[in-house]
Amino acid sequence: MMATAFEFKDVTFAYRSHPALNGVSFSIRLGERVALLGANGSGKSTLLRMMDALCFAAEGTATALSAPLTEAAMQDDRTNFAFRRRVGLVFQNPDVQLFNPTVMDELAFGPLQLGWDKPKVRDAIAAMLARFNIEQVKDRPPHRLSGGEKKRVALASVLITEPEILLLDEPTAALDPASRADLVGLLAREPVAGRTVVTATHDLDIVEDIADRAIVLSEGRIAADGPALDILHDIELLRRTHLIFEHRHSHGGHPSTAHGHLHSGIGPAEA
Ligand SMILES: Nc1ncnc2c1ncn2[C@@H]1O[C@H](COP(=O)(O)OP(=O)(O)O)[C@@H](O)[C@H]1O
Ligand SMILES: [Mg+2]
Repeated sequence: MMATAFEFKDVTFAYRSHPALNGVSFSIRLGERVALLGANGSGKSTLLRMMDALCFAAEGTATALSAPLTEAAMQDDRTNFAFRRRVGLVFQNPDVQLFNPTVMDELAFGPLQLGWDKPKVRDAIAAMLARFNIEQVKDRPPHRLSGGEKKRVALASVLITEPEILLLDEPTAALDPASRADLVGLLAREPVAGRTVVTATHDLDIVEDIADRAIVLSEGRIAADGPALDILHDIELLRRTHLIFEHRHSHGGHPSTAHGHLHSGIGPAEA
């Protein structure tokens, strides 16, 4: 049997009566790097939260690592613990994720939960501080850091326990260009052999670096699923799903250069 990270069949989900996912089916193999694309409100965060067992399918079936993603299954402590050590979600808004008094405590939290011994925790923290360039802020409260630093700490706090499956929600949202380039560099270098990475984003410029496959969501449905480059070149699809928009403007002093061209993105996403 093929090693499967996720298998979703006809999954629906609604917030009260507000539909968020509507008949979503896909499967992701272990080791795949997938971009989850879609405009604001298309269902990306809901889908990632479901993949992290933070919400559950109302209809249809979902599995992670070949085990059912149901509330009943996750109520079993051993199942939940086993799942949490294998799957990690980095939230869009690091303020939701970071809650410890210092960066060091933040990094130690996951390993201590898993019962690692002190020397192993210490070594892992040192490695993360260096890898994410956050040594200089290690004793500071996470909520007082810059946006880029917070994102790096949030990512480090999830990666420190080396989850097999990494789920990233809009990792470049609200970052300045330098921090964004930094983070994409880290993610592009990330492919630890065999790690599955699913990244929700509407930042088309990063897709090529961080994913081989793209799944496009539109209004809670899958609008496309295929090789990332094919999807990035399907202008009609991107326009239809509001991942790009076209407008006309003229460049100063040269009205003759007025032209239609494409801009990616829908502006910074809200948390
Ligand atoms: N906590 C919530 N309560 C009610 N509706 C929500 C909530 N979170 C998201 N939604 C709605 O569900 C739909 C999908 O949202 P979301 O998964 O956050 O999309 P995305 O991450 O692509 O922006 C949207 O219509 C959104 O307004
Ligand atoms: Mg979202």
